[in-house]
Amino acid sequence: MISRIRLLPDSASTVSGEYDLFFWLMVLLCGAVGLGIAVFLVYSVIRYHRRSENELPPQIRNYIPAEAAWIGIPFILFMGMYAWGAKLYFDVERPPDNAISMYAIGKQWMWKIQHPEGPREINELHIPIGRPVKLTMTSQDAIHSFFVPAFRTKQDVLPGRYTSTWFEATTPGKYHLFCAEYCGTKHSGMIGWVYAMNPHDYQLWLQQGAAEGSLASTGEKLFHQYGCANCHHFTGHGRAPNLQNLYGRQIALAGGETVVADDTYIRESILQPRAKIVEGFQSIMPTFEGQLSEEQVIDLISYIKALGPQPGAELPSSSGTAPKDYGTQPGIAGPGATSNAGSQPETR
Ligand code: CUA
Repeated sequence: MISRIRLLPDSASTVSGEYDLFFWLMVLLCGAVGLGIAVFLVYSVIRYHRRSENELPPQIRNYIPAEAAWIGIPFILFMGMYAWGAKLYFDVERPPDNAISMYAIGKQWMWKIQHPEGPREINELHIPIGRPVKLTMTSQDAIHSFFVPAFRTKQDVLPGRYTSTWFEATTPGKYHLFCAEYCGTKHSGMIGWVYAMNPHDYQLWLQQGAAEGSLASTGEKLFHQYGCANCHHFTGHGRAPNLQNLYGRQIALAGGETVVADDTYIRESILQPRAKIVEGFQSIMPTFEGQLSEEQVIDLISYIKALGPQPGAELPSSSGTAPKDYGTQPGIAGPGATSNAGSQPETR
């Protein structure tokens, strides 16, 4: 019976042990300070209560040792907790460089996961143990929150922007995935499972789902279907910036600022192209707001990422033809076949 009562969920990630220790020390410290004050209060009331109507106690002023102790000791203890908490915060805010990059989209009322190799999942997330996994997340509607108690991971998922989180599972198993932000009538049903697998099993699982094609190859198709290639040439002479070796680089903007070409910047440049104009280019790109779903934006970002220079990024699986040969490949629309009214056939 006792064994069924558990105060904490499973501990299955590299940070969960330290988080639990931090939690219990905080409970202990706050409990000890609270209890100490309460005991001292009761003791003082009994020990020093007034014995007669006109009793006057001796006045003691500026007793430095006592003042220094009650200011100094709590200050050191609580600043120590603060420093440790800040360290934990930075640990979970900064994904390691070798993290596998996956995408999660929250929508009423489900979690959609996209693996770069292709598999898409709903309310399930398969990950290998022993590898950090970075999730880039966004929402299609309300605010959701991605919560895996066993990993001590909780991150809000917001419409209109990317947030990210990362974790590294240590123990194979099946762990609950929740939405931790009230997001509508079926919020309580927005539940899924995380499957932490041995790397070998994970590879097998990936291969089963790879038939859908990688995100980058889907993105490549969209890139041609929406006419992006009309302006974004890979020769560097187009009317729009060359997207090769763009990802992760510092970009100089008109007006003298610079920006890092990360997921957030690329998403914004697709949906609000006028927000940031690259130095030396005109603001001629039409917006794709309302034309592309969040999944499709992620596909396009994955394609641009695969164009380099992200370490470890795989090339689009359909890259048998170089990007400049678009239109010659059956099934992929060429410049003249674009359905996007904002772009014109190449005139160069
Ligand atoms: Cu999504 Cu609550």
